[in-house]
Amino acid sequence: MIPPDAGLARLAIIGGSSLDQLAALAEPRRVEMVTPYGKPSAPLVFGKLNGRNVVFLARHGERHQYAPHGINYRANLWALHAQGVTDVVAVATVGGIRAGLQAGVLAVPDQIIDYTWGRASTFFDGAVGGELDAPLTGVKHIDFTQPYDSALRASLLRAAQCAGKTVHNGGTYATTQGPRLETAAEIQRLARDGAHMLGMTGMPEAALARELGLRYAHLALVVNAAAGTAGSIRAIDLPAAESLAREAMADVVRILLEWVSVEGAVDGD
Ligand code: HPA
Repeated sequence: MIPPDAGLARLAIIGGSSLDQLAALAEPRRVEMVTPYGKPSAPLVFGKLNGRNVVFLARHGERHQYAPHGINYRANLWALHAQGVTDVVAVATVGGIRAGLQAGVLAVPDQIIDYTWGRASTFFDGAVGGELDAPLTGVKHIDFTQPYDSALRASLLRAAQCAGKTVHNGGTYATTQGPRLETAAEIQRLARDGAHMLGMTGMPEAALARELGLRYAHLALVVNAAAGTAGSIRAIDLPAAESLAREAMADVVRILLEWVSVEGAVDGD
């Protein structure tokens, strides 16, 4: 199932909306995988970023064909894990709820609230779902008090500093089901719950990474004010959000280039 010459990379980048391909990846090598949970959203693309071995995965597929609730998160994380990945930076576009998280701001959140439903959200399904032959069976509860890896968060923040980019440190990322955007009342409720930003793909991705022992952190880009707030009082300007995302991804990539340098240096990769 795993091509023997896949080429190990310790560092992985999961690209979200507006980052379905990583053009900066040199010597790209696509590896198709099938996992016990099915196929990942896209082939893994191994290559070099700033001279370091990295693997890239397009969360929504290379043609952006998978909606947030239709992504095979388990196959995605399993494929990376099976290739020897230890650290995952997950890039995500988000809506900003709190003041200071206006469109264009980058953030490394430190907490998650999960509002999703109906997604395959664990590798430890017990004996249900006809997956008795799955590699991880039984019931296992993971600690998720701190959903993100603190060392990985710190190295992302350091990388942003090296890249000369201001990044908001912390904040609670609410994961909504989508694919529709929220009502103004839903956003008010999320704000009352303590959410600072929201997106549709943070969960179960982060929890599955923890189940596999992968270090995981989000690099989030705010592309719009959440429904009913700031610049989105009456409606969210989706074309504006998309064009901002396309432009600002250049900043995200600059941070990723620094991140692989910082992290690559650690193990002399
Ligand atoms: N809501 C949910 N997900 C999002 C948003 C939003 O406003 N913006 C980008 N992803």
